[in-house]
Amino acid sequence: MLRAILIGAPGCGKSSVGKALSRELSTSFEDSDALIVEREGRSIPEIFEAVGEPGFRVIEREVVLSALASNVGVLALGGGSVLDPAVQDAITKSSAIVIFLRVGLSNVLARLTAKGERPLVAEDPKRQWLEILARRQPIYEKLATLEIDTDNKKSHEVARELIIRMGLSHD
Ligand code: S3P
Repeated sequence: MLRAILIGAPGCGKSSVGKALSRELSTSFEDSDALIVEREGRSIPEIFEAVGEPGFRVIEREVVLSALASNVGVLALGGGSVLDPAVQDAITKSSAIVIFLRVGLSNVLARLTAKGERPLVAEDPKRQWLEILARRQPIYEKLATLEIDTDNKKSHEVARELIIRMGLSHD
């Protein structure tokens, strides 16, 4: 059963927090970017290079809708997948907790500049990331059932805090 969906801007830690949370919940974890790479047999930058952002979004919609309908326990979604109305609709209808990971620019900058992994912030990471966040923040907030600040916290600390806030802590 899908228990938690992680959303947020690129580099906010969805994958590492998602993995840590799935360990805490003893359940499975999937990441939509990894599912796309697996399905397409090429990297995200290679997909952008071949079919552009519109082509990437078509693939992403299919992969995300199928993952949302699957049995994975914790699902991390690519930062831009929530722009799609069908994806928004499926998230809203899901019984899973939708977790928005908040992060500040200073915490995210080093991750964003990691070589060419994120085509949308490759040119001018700081400016592009801030623009992306400004555009998407209202969507992340609208979809979220739980929001958490991740600045200066390790993934496992965020996961522990989430467990407590989800009312699942037995400590
Ligand atoms: C994107 C975010 C990336 C990846 C692609 C596009 C976006 O995933 O799906 O580069 O539009 O924000 P992360 O959010 O995991 O970086």
